[in-house]
Amino acid sequence: MAYTLPALPYDYTALEPHISKQTLEFHHDKHHAGYVSKYNDAIQGTDYDNQAIEDVIKAIAGDASKAGLFNNAAQAWNHSFYWNCIKPNGGGEPTGALAAKISADFGSYDAFKTEFLAAGGAQFGSGWAWLVLDNGTLKVTKTGNAGNPLTEGQVPLLTMDVWEHAYYLDYQNRRPDYAKTFVESLINWDFVAEQFAKATA
Ligand code: FE2
Repeated sequence: MAYTLPALPYDYTALEPHISKQTLEFHHDKHHAGYVSKYNDAIQGTDYDNQAIEDVIKAIAGDASKAGLFNNAAQAWNHSFYWNCIKPNGGGEPTGALAAKISADFGSYDAFKTEFLAAGGAQFGSGWAWLVLDNGTLKVTKTGNAGNPLTEGQVPLLTMDVWEHAYYLDYQNRRPDYAKTFVESLINWDFVAEQFAKATA
């Protein structure tokens, strides 16, 4: 079915000074909108038009003949997820059951933070850093380009876009500064905790 570009869950200026209005305008209105529109054009009149985008992503992952469709489908989904992973006055540390699980699986919040920042920094070129639930265990992973943990049977809980279009206008080549700001000032832990609760219900 046609995938709808979600409106940003906050105003274009809401993440300033960490992420500028200009970045959000290009990132949401041009990049994300472009993936959604190409995905919808590609599935129109095909069997994929009857499937949820998550099912399309899982069905065609790794099929070289469907790489173009996969890239637009996964990028459409990844960005919708990314917008929800951040919020004005975000960051800090998670609480409750998620905080306890992070301590249990990583040793501490600080150990998680170090691993997540390292994943974002180490992803060569474009891609995403993730916190996922993998067979009951929290893990930090990274994917290249449009990669999505759903294709590995993992449940995405949090993602950070490390494509240059996510940060270049505000941070230029300083991806580590963007990543540190993302973790310390932007993460929407309420959303992440909701994903965790759904995955463990
Ligand atoms: Fe992006």
